[in-house]
This record gives sequence, C-alpha cells and structure tokens, in this order.
Amino acid sequence: MDYRTIGIIGSGTMGSGIVQLAAVSGCEVVMFDANISATQNAFEKIKKTLATLVEKKKISEEDARHSILRIKIGNSLHDFKDCDLVIEAIVEDLSVKKELFKSLEEVCKPSCILATNTSSISITSIASACKNPAKVIGIHFFNPAPIMPLVEIIPGLATDKNITANAIAIIQSWKKITVLAKDTPGFIVNRVARPFYGEAIRIYEEGIADFATIDWAMKELGGFRMGPFELMDFIGNDVNYKVTETVWQQFFYDARYKPSLTQKRLFEAGFWGKKTGRGYYNYAEGDIQPEATKDEKKGKEILMRILSMLVNEAYEALYYGIATCEDLETAITKGVNYPKGLIQWGEELGLNNVLKTLDDLNTTYKEERYRPSLLLRKTASEK
Ligand SMILES: NC(=O)c1ccc[n+]([C@@H]2O[C@H](COP(=O)([O-])OP(=O)(O)OC[C@H]3O[C@@H](n4cnc5c(N)ncnc54)[C@H](O)[C@@H]3O)[C@@H](O)[C@H]2O)c1
Repeated sequence: MDYRTIGIIGSGTMGSGIVQLAAVSGCEVVMFDANISATQNAFEKIKKTLATLVEKKKISEEDARHSILRIKIGNSLHDFKDCDLVIEAIVEDLSVKKELFKSLEEVCKPSCILATNTSSISITSIASACKNPAKVIGIHFFNPAPIMPLVEIIPGLATDKNITANAIAIIQSWKKITVLAKDTPGFIVNRVARPFYGEAIRIYEEGIADFATIDWAMKELGGFRMGPFELMDFIGNDVNYKVTETVWQQFFYDARYKPSLTQKRLFEAGFWGKKTGRGYYNYAEGDIQPEATKDEKKGKEILMRILSMLVNEAYEALYYGIATCEDLETAITKGVNYPKGLIQWGEELGLNNVLKTLDDLNTTYKEERYRPSLLLRKTASEK
C-alpha cells in the first residue's frame, strides 16, 4: 500500500514540524487544528523555514515550492477522509485524545493508520477509544521534528503487526531512524533520560553543587552537549516537569522517577526557561550568568553519580524488554544526542564501578530511588 496522503492534527510545535517533514518527503498533507490561527501560523512558519533552507542551498527552490503546494489546510476532521495515515499532535491529555481518536475512526477510511505523537500517554489507552484498536500506533517524533533523526514507534497491545511494519516503512521513507519501543511510560528516551534531570536536581537540592557547576561537569567532563539545567530550560520546565510527573504516576509512583519540588516550583511560577525569559537561569538581555566552580574532583563525582543512574535506567529498560540493546543505544544517541550509548558507557566506566556507586547511594540514603537493576547486578557479576 502506498501511503501518500498524510493528515496531521494539531499545528503547534510538533504538528507544524511533522507537516513540513511529510511535505518535503513528497507526501500530500492535510493539516488541521481546533484553533484556525494555529494552522495559519504554522503554514507561515513552514514557508519561512523552507525559504531559509533555499537560501542556505539545503533544498532547491522548486522542491520548496512543490512542498508548499502539497500542504492543504483542513476545515474539519472530514478533510482527513482520504488520508492513508493521520498523525495526532494535539494537547497531551488522555480524555481529549480519546475523544479525537473516536471521531477520527468515524471519518477516516478503514485502511487509514491512526497515529499519536504523545510523549507520555499509553498508546493502548488512547486506542481503547476506537472500535478497531489494531490500526492505532504511537509514532513519537522529537523536537524539532524535521531535524531530529530519531522516531520511536510504539505499538499498543492491540496494534496489528502489519500496521507496525507499515508505520516503520513510512517513517524510514521520510529518512528518519526508527526504534521500536514497548508501550510503557516514557517509551525509551523519556524514560531512560529521566535521571539526567532528576539526579542533577537532587544534587542541587542537597547543596552539593549549583546549577552552573553541575552543567559544567556534565559538559566538560562528560561530553554532553548541554548540561541538565540548560537543557531543562531549553525544553521548557513546563514540558519537562509534566513528562517527569506523568512517568512517575504511570509507574505507580515508583521512587526512581519521583519529580522534584524545585522544578515543580519553577513550573508553578511560570519560570519555564528560555521561552519565558527565566528558568534555572535568567535570559533577559544583560543578565550575568553564574560561574561554575570548576573543582574537578567534585565534578567527577557529580558525573559518576548521574551517569550511574542513567546506566542503571538503561539496564532496567533492557531487563523489562522495552527495546533491544541496539535500539536503546540508538535512541539515546539520536533522540537526546548523548555522546555515547548508555550500555557502552557502562562498560567503559566498569559495571562494577557503576554498581558500587549505586550501592553506596543506596546505603547512604536508604531510598528505593537508588536500587540497582537486577540485570545490571547480574551482568556486573559476570565481569
Ligand atoms: N513539544 C515537544 O517537545 C514534544 C515532543 C514530542 C512529542 N510531543 C507531543 O506532541 C503533542 C503536541 O505537542 P506540542 O508541543 O506540539 O503542543 P502545542 O501546544 O505546541 O500544540 C498543540 C496544538 O493542538 C491544538 N489542539 C488542542 N486540542 C485539539 C483538538 N481537540 N483538536 C485539534 N487541535 C487541537 C492546539 O490548538 C495547538 O495548536 C503532545 O502530545 C506532546 O506530548 C511534544
């Protein structure tokens, strides 16, 4: 089957990016949003982006013109009736998404794949709103969708195997790297990367180091492109906090994923980061940024603590079959740009060193948060 006509519902940050990607990849695209001005703004943004890409000679003028001509603005869900695939990128709310999928199933042709770009809601849960949940799947892009190479493909419990295979083929034909994830909270990246934020905040809350020092340690000593606090400010503390909270709730309040009061307060205050001008750091013009205390011994301890938590989470995901080892490594290097995969990193650090760091934390704090994964312990014992 040829998946030529794609519907994108929701024209915000993610929807607009996916529209651009699908159109540039040669698909006919229908875009729709409950708020018409969001669709118009997205269309203008896409035209501007493509013009910039033409200027930079990344795309020909003809390709840009044809891509724009392939985009149609829909007036209602009925405009999706001829689509082969519809991708939903609306507000992250289960009841709103379920309502939408129920309506989409009524208007779309029976062969149409219904996909959700949700970051943290269960695909099975969304699909349960449909009479035929077999054609519902998670296709999780990263922001910005046209640029980030990774897409997580998440079949729900009822998803047909052919739908999964077709979804993978479509997304790969758009020149993306796909990984397959089990329908569990946070899928791969939003689960495995949680300690990068959570443990960094914990270290700050305990007064061990300030934001700038933790960011410096992770970048200078760990090779990460951005430190955890810079990254949270970049993602937005609203988005990042909500993902943490959802993952924690969905894991039945497992202490490993517990959100922090520090980030909750930033969220409540509207200090969401770069987009609001204030987050962990201040972004107003002329603001002086805090200096890191470049104490290498302390920096190495911070790095080892956060890395050990990350490696542990990767082993836990592997233990529970969330993804293959290869997909885990791909997801973390392509989805959040870590300098290397966490399983490989664990090997390089020495699994027994990682285990000792976790065991020491566990002994000190006596908190479930620091319990080592059984698979990590088993693998380390075989070394
Ligand atoms: N922002 C990210 O970094 C990111 C990354 C990956 C996945 N996601 C997921 O993608 C989805 C969209 O996120 P976003 O950041 O683009 O949100 P956004 O707020 O930028 O855009 C959402 C759009 O959906 C529209 N909308 C809301 N309810 C609607 C409805 N019932 N019908 C039609 N349109 C409706 C809104 O008007 C808005 O324009 C969410 O599920 C989110 O979890 C976000």
